Amino acid sequence: MTLELLGLCGALRTASLNRLLMQDAARRFDGNFQEANLRLPLYDGDLEDEGLPAEVQALADQIKAADAVLIVTPEYNQSFSGVLKNALDWVSRVDGQPWKGKPVALMSAAAGRTGGARANYALRLAMAPFRTEMVPGPEVLIAGASKEFDAEGRLTNPRYIQAIEEAMGDLHARAVRATAG
Ligand SMILES: Cc1cc2nc3c(=O)[nH]c(=O)nc-3n(C[C@H](O)[C@H](O)[C@H](O)COP(=O)(O)O)c2cc1C
Repeated sequence: MTLELLGLCGALRTASLNRLLMQDAARRFDGNFQEANLRLPLYDGDLEDEGLPAEVQALADQIKAADAVLIVTPEYNQSFSGVLKNALDWVSRVDGQPWKGKPVALMSAAAGRTGGARANYALRLAMAPFRTEMVPGPEVLIAGASKEFDAEGRLTNPRYIQAIEEAMGDLHARAVRATAG
């Protein structure tokens, strides 16, 4: 059975280094990969009262259907991105607990020396209510990220590659167990 990996990238820009990180990590997962659309309207209770936006329902459906989810986020002012928080808030309003028991891995790429450690930690805390099956480690935090990708958009530092392979291996194992159970 082919496992389905869904990627959520907290940066919208085309040249996002986090997207490169997500794609590099996804190549190390034995399964199909697709990136979710996080270009959603801002959460607004009035909008919700009119009915869930179709793209929010589509995102929740994709999360529910995925065997595993990889989330990457930039660090913005010591936390994770508003784009990602907006998506998490919207999905929390959808019936059916799409995150429950879902194998999830978190990673970040950032300009600073900590590689987005604070963003990553804040994201881990923000995900707590959703009761996912979170990969506990190793942390994948790409520091000084603009210098870490080669011309093909791939990471070259063996230390990062090893951490990504370990995290993706754990994510895959959790997805296999969740599918079997
Ligand atoms: C609004 C804003 C706030 C930022 N704050 C931080 C920060 O707190 N720590 C950090 O390491 N980098 C910070 N950066 C730099 C980002 O880490 C860097 O631009 C990164 O490449 C963004 O991710 P992306 O390439 O996926 O878009 C910030 C960038 C922006 C635009």
